[in-house]
Amino acid sequence: MCENILLIAKSEKISEKECMLAETIALFHDLGRFEQFTKYKTFSDSESENHAVLGVKILNKEGILARLPEEEIRLVLKAVEYHNLMEIPGNVNPSSKLHFFCRLIRDADKIDILRFASEGYAAEEKCRNPALELYLPDTKGYSEPMVSEILNNRMAKIGDMKNRNDIKLLRLSWIFDLNFPATFSLLKKYGYLESIISSLPESKETEVLKRHCEKYLDAMESGVREGNNEL
Ligand SMILES: [Fe+2]
Repeated sequence: MCENILLIAKSEKISEKECMLAETIALFHDLGRFEQFTKYKTFSDSESENHAVLGVKILNKEGILARLPEEEIRLVLKAVEYHNLMEIPGNVNPSSKLHFFCRLIRDADKIDILRFASEGYAAEEKCRNPALELYLPDTKGYSEPMVSEILNNRMAKIGDMKNRNDIKLLRLSWIFDLNFPATFSLLKKYGYLESIISSLPESKETEVLKRHCEKYLDAMESGVREGNNEL
């Protein structure tokens, strides 16, 4: 996590001090997970409490960041608080430092979750992981809205998932919420998407999805932004 956030941060040519801030955010972003599991025996926010907000409370209570300047403490706390939201809140100025660090942690976090998912799917023949499958049934094909969201370069919606294949598509669709060219390079290098795609059923539809995602990844890696109608 810390390694990935640093790789992305450095690719954006930020200062040494800002790289340390990025690493600090990565180090503490899931701090709340420890207390969440100790107290509730689950990692599900909906069955317990928001682990990001819990992490912020602990950071404040323990004074872990106390040696940092006030402005940096605020930035770390907000980036931690917002890391697991569907999107960065609209009141955060897109050209602000906070927005930049929010994008950094959200990208690094997605790489990490895709790693976990790809490792889990690679081993699923041997050992199924119900937590990864969100207890969805193992039925054939995909739910149509999941496919069309991906083909329109949008993140798929949790509410549209009907089976285990759909949750894999949901994870794949996260590539449409990544921010930095370096994140796309890392994903390509690690091959997480390939391994998730290879765990999908062999079909024409899978082939279309695969080609679409690869094309998107290639284009974004070269820094092409929205407005490319061919995607
Ligand atoms: Fe998290």
